Amino acid sequence: MTSVKAPEIKQKVRERYGAVAQQNASCCGGDETEIQLVDYSALNVEVVADADLGLGCGVPTLTADIRPGETVLDLGSGAGIDVFLAARAVGPRGKVIGVDMTPEMIQRARENAKRGGYENVEFRQGELEDMPVDDDSIDVILSNCVINLVPDKGKVFDEIYRVLKPGGRFSISDIVTFGDVPAVIREDIALWTGCIAGALDQNDYRELIRSAGFENVRYEKEQRYDSSWIPDKYRQALGHHVDEMNGAFGITSVTVVGEK
Ligand SMILES: C[S@@+](CC[C@H](N)C(=O)[O-])C[C@H]1O[C@@H](n2cnc3c(N)ncnc32)[C@H](O)[C@@H]1O
Repeated sequence: MTSVKAPEIKQKVRERYGAVAQQNASCCGGDETEIQLVDYSALNVEVVADADLGLGCGVPTLTADIRPGETVLDLGSGAGIDVFLAARAVGPRGKVIGVDMTPEMIQRARENAKRGGYENVEFRQGELEDMPVDDDSIDVILSNCVINLVPDKGKVFDEIYRVLKPGGRFSISDIVTFGDVPAVIREDIALWTGCIAGALDQNDYRELIRSAGFENVRYEKEQRYDSSWIPDKYRQALGHHVDEMNGAFGITSVTVVGEK
């Protein structure tokens, strides 16, 4: 874990994504590096143009099996891309709620909903550790590249368990790590807000989810990134480890599914 404290991390995360919402900052990666995440244009679906800010690390709607009439919740909904994709799947009898703690993101998502004419969506400002959502009220939970940013991930999975209906399911895309990630990387706040330093080890992540009480937990999709996200200042300090890093340590994006 990092020596940086949770309130400071959350403040920096809010600042970064507030700036991203206003298109004044990039995501994701460190100070001098960026990682290329998901390109939704490959999906060939029409959603609101500004809803995809290039912040996702998977396409959780593809593995969520969303059905007409269901109630869906997207955690860390950003500008709304996955909310709008889910809104099409649930149709007019269903509903999709997006939750995000960054006011600028909520504002942007609401503007996008208005522009796209989406009437079955709602965006609520709130934190994933204390969701503004009723108990046992959600059929499907989505989240895309968000939980790695939260200091207390156990609390998030407890909250997911609380708000899902019995038999409800989740499909979550996120970054996880493999191998022994050096402490200098874990403690870099820019790498934390850039979706890397806060990511859990892939095995610990799955165990955390299982220990929150979920069943049939499994990784559906995995994509390993090359080492280009490592800032030069650490490459020199870490020496040969970095050259070997494709085998030694690194980051992977996964989509994990499970049921309550
Ligand atoms: C990398 S962006 C992903 C946005 C969106 N899911 C997408 O794919 O475009 C992370 C989002 O999570 C939100 N976020 C981070 N930590 C949060 C928390 N603890 N509670 C609520 N939202 C959070 C940020 O404000 C930001 O909008």
